[in-house]
Amino acid sequence: MGRIVIASDHTGVELKEDIKAFLNEKGYKVVDMGSNGNESVDYPDYGIPAAQMVSSGKIEKGILICGTGIGMSIVANKFPNIRAALVNDVYSARMAKEHNDANILVIGGRVAGKGLAREMVRVWLEANFEGGRHQRRLDKIREIEKKWGKPT
Ligand code: RB5
Repeated sequence: MGRIVIASDHTGVELKEDIKAFLNEKGYKVVDMGSNGNESVDYPDYGIPAAQMVSSGKIEKGILICGTGIGMSIVANKFPNIRAALVNDVYSARMAKEHNDANILVIGGRVAGKGLAREMVRVWLEANFEGGRHQRRLDKIREIEKKWGKPT
């Protein structure tokens, strides 16, 4: 089992803890980048360091949580090599891997309950990227990074 980095803002702390427990049960080593507690924080302060770990290849996969998941997905997708997928249903979670090879799963902590969140994480981790025409599409996205650059 590999390592997974996880981070949330204050709206996702409870869900983060539950997903951590779920991943630990499954044998993953979870690197928790915060936040912790109820104090209001800014999601980029937690999403950026987590996304950097995946972007640099230090850790293969990440899970980010904010209220809707929107802010965290905007942050993560600024980084090279990141394909962050905001999902709030199980079908999209599976497709995020099979078609998009998403290396970061983003969940809305105020949108998805714990049961749904665990199921989305499970199917994303168990799915396999299908390659083929989907790889061609990802290559076209990679071209954007090459042309315009992204922050590191
Ligand atoms: C915090 O209130 C909220 O804006 C944040 O968690 C997230 O949903 C932003 O996209």
